[in-house]
Order: sequence, then structure tokens, then C-alpha cells
Amino acid sequence: MTDTPADDMTTVLPPLSRRDQRKIMKGAAVFPPGAAPDALAGPIPQASFEQAIVQAERPLLAELDARNISAWFGDHQVLDRVSLTMPAGVVTSLIGPSGCGKSTFLRILNRMHELIPSASLAGEVLIDGEDIYDPSRRLVEARKAIGMVFQKPNPFPAMSIYDNVLAGLKLTGTKADRDRKDHLVETCLTKAGLWKEVRDRLRAPGGGLSGGQQQRLCIARSLAVKPKVLLMDEPCSALDPTSTRVIEETMLELVDDVTIVIVTHNMQQAQRVSTQCAFFLASQGQPGAIVEHGSTEAMFSSPIDSRTFDYVNGVFG
Ligand SMILES: Nc1ncnc2c1ncn2[C@@H]1O[C@H](COP(=O)(O)OP(=O)(O)O)[C@@H](O)[C@H]1O
Ligand SMILES: [Mg+2]
Repeated sequence: MTDTPADDMTTVLPPLSRRDQRKIMKGAAVFPPGAAPDALAGPIPQASFEQAIVQAERPLLAELDARNISAWFGDHQVLDRVSLTMPAGVVTSLIGPSGCGKSTFLRILNRMHELIPSASLAGEVLIDGEDIYDPSRRLVEARKAIGMVFQKPNPFPAMSIYDNVLAGLKLTGTKADRDRKDHLVETCLTKAGLWKEVRDRLRAPGGGLSGGQQQRLCIARSLAVKPKVLLMDEPCSALDPTSTRVIEETMLELVDDVTIVIVTHNMQQAQRVSTQCAFFLASQGQPGAIVEHGSTEAMFSSPIDSRTFDYVNGVFG
């Protein structure tokens, strides 16, 4: 859901999500915003109310576009003119050996890089065509639109599960009454694939959950501020294989609602979850750059660059 009035959505026709495709397969019609057929201009058939709800609850998906991103820590350059378009509604995975600048790139995508003393950058990051570094835009806007989930789950351990989910609202100054909060907590925990496991203990501390559950709690917390993009930096590397699969399934559900960019060292994971993939490399003291990017399938089955072939086949890294 966004704050955008429905009328403004008529010019935006996002591709059908997998969920809508499933609805169509089941026989229910789904129309892009503003594109309902003329038949609906007459008396409104019952089913269209449901469609209206589907449309109203469906957020606008956003494309993220990084252009010529370079990054430095002091005078040490760690990224050199990296450009990558991360399309709406799909998972993009960033792969490459440690130290090649993947996390730095991810932090630049939501203005966290600038929190590090000595850090600087060049280039542009556009979300649906608007530069998040434009001086007239507030920092909190970028952070709200572009959420981040880290390698190590970081819920507030003493805070209740319920309050953990809502923790981001304070940062963005969003106020909500009790009913709306209850609804939001349930919606976000459901989307994060955690609701059924915690609905009976919402007042228990977040720190009491297992690692995989804590990571899903962090995903729910990110979702509560209704981001358009979710960045995930090795979100499963501290988790067991079962929790990893649950998070992967969650990502595939979520990608209908948010654009996802994930850093992963797990080549199977990149293939399971991502549609698009970018291979980063920093060769011999040089700053990191993208060697190759494209559809995940092509990157793994027929990469153009021999270094990509070697990396995805485990020759180095
Ligand atoms: N806070 C920091 N201060 C100084 N150098 C850093 C900092 N964070 C990362 N670096 C350096 O930037 C380069 C890229 O690191 P990083 O983005 O973490 O790579 P990756 O996520 O691909 O492992 C490395 O050389 C790393 O040592
Ligand atoms: Mg990293």
C-alpha cells in the first residue's frame, strides 16, 4: 500500500505479479490500476469489489537504478563506476568473493554508507527515476522506501515481538491507533512467514525466538514501514538449512510486493530465489566492479566471462 491516491496510479501499469497470475489461472480477473474494462462502468458485479480490494492493497512496485557508483573509505576506493538496474518485482542477487564491495554497494542503495565516517561516494541511485541523494529529499524518505535486513538478525531482544514489528514506525513518525497496529502486526508477520508460530506469544521478547524466527521478525519489522525495496545482506548465512529455506520461500512470496536485492555467497540460493544476478569482483588491489550481470539462468548456464564461470562453479571465492 502507498500513500499515492488511486487516481495517480493510472499511468503506472506494473507487470502482473505471480499472485495475480495465480488468480487469473483460478478464473478471477485482475486488471492493472486504471485499466478496468468498460463492462465495469455499469452496475458493479460482486466480484469487482474483491478486485478493488486486491488493487487497493497492492503496492506500487519500484525499480532501483544505480548509475556509475564509486565508493571510497578515506582515499581507498572500493567500488568503481558500478551501474545496475534492479527491476521491480523480481529478486536480484549480488554475488562475488568477500571484499569486492557488495555490502558497500548495498549500503549505498539506502544511504547507509554515509553513516560511516570517512566514507564517500559518487554516482546516482534512482528509485523510480528519482535520485535518493537529491539534496532536497530527506534521508528518512530513502530509508523508509528502501529497507535493509542484515546478516545477523538484530531484533531488539528485550522488546516484545509485537513492539519489534512496530519499531520502525517511531523512526518514520507514523502514528496508528490500536486496531491499525494490531492489523499491521498481523499482516507483516504473515507476510514474513512468522505469524502462525508467534501469534500466541506476541508479548514475549523478540530475543527468545530462534535465529531463523528472529530473521523473519526483522523482515516483518522492515515491512511495517511499507518499503518499496528490501535489501538483504547475506540474510541466511547465520541460519540452518531449514530456516534458510523458509526465508527463501518468504522472499519468493514477498517479491510480489517489494523489489528485493540480496547479497549471497550461496550459489544454490542465488539460483533458487533470483531472476537477475550480478557478479562483483575486485581484482588485485583494484576497486570492486561488476564483471557481468544478466538473467540468473544465463549467468549460471552460459556466462560470457570466464571469471564468472569459474566463480559460479566454485573454482575460487
Ligand atoms: N567501515 C569500513 N571502513 C573501511 N573500509 C571498509 C569498511 N567497510 C568495508 N571496507 C572495505 O571495503 C571493501 C569492500 O568491503 P565490503 O563492501 O564489505 O565487501 P563484501 O561485502 O563484498 O565482502 C573491503 O576492502 C573492505 O575492507
Ligand atoms: Mg559483505
